[in-house]
Amino acid sequence: MAILKIARIGHPILLKKTKEIKELGSEKIKEIVYNMSETMIDANGIGLAAPQVHLNLRLFIIRDIESKNKEMQIKALINPVIEKLSDETIEAWEGCLSIPGMLGLVRRFSKIKYSAYDLQGKKISNNLEGIQARVVQHEFDHLNGILYTSRLVHKDAFGHAEEIEQYWQKNEKEKQ
Ligand code: NI
Repeated sequence: MAILKIARIGHPILLKKTKEIKELGSEKIKEIVYNMSETMIDANGIGLAAPQVHLNLRLFIIRDIESKNKEMQIKALINPVIEKLSDETIEAWEGCLSIPGMLGLVRRFSKIKYSAYDLQGKKISNNLEGIQARVVQHEFDHLNGILYTSRLVHKDAFGHAEEIEQYWQKNEKEKQ
């Protein structure tokens, strides 16, 4: 396995729409997913999309932070499709391994359903809410060349994590 180089904001691959994967269940795709998993763990991320490691493929991985089974913690979604399950949205601060050190306030659907293929090429689907729903929408955007910086609820709702924590999140907590 190998740790891959992560593309940062400004690299054109992050703005490209990705291509469908034809070789479902192939060893090549498995190897890519294993390397992406190692890269995500090393970078301490909770999601990683193929364009972030310079690959033009419709595939991302997510870390199932609610799973108790360690081996099931990372899930690959290949050629995914998502749909909202309601119009309800939630605003929350998001980070991205391609925009290191920064956070932005983004509105996402609170409940979604995804359909995709797994590593074996088997069709999978699931309903998600909470942080998992947010991560999947964020990673899905990467497959269409969209970064969260183009989805900010307000153009000023973006900055370095430490400043955001001090000047935005602290105020939010005091208001509650
Ligand atoms: Ni990201």
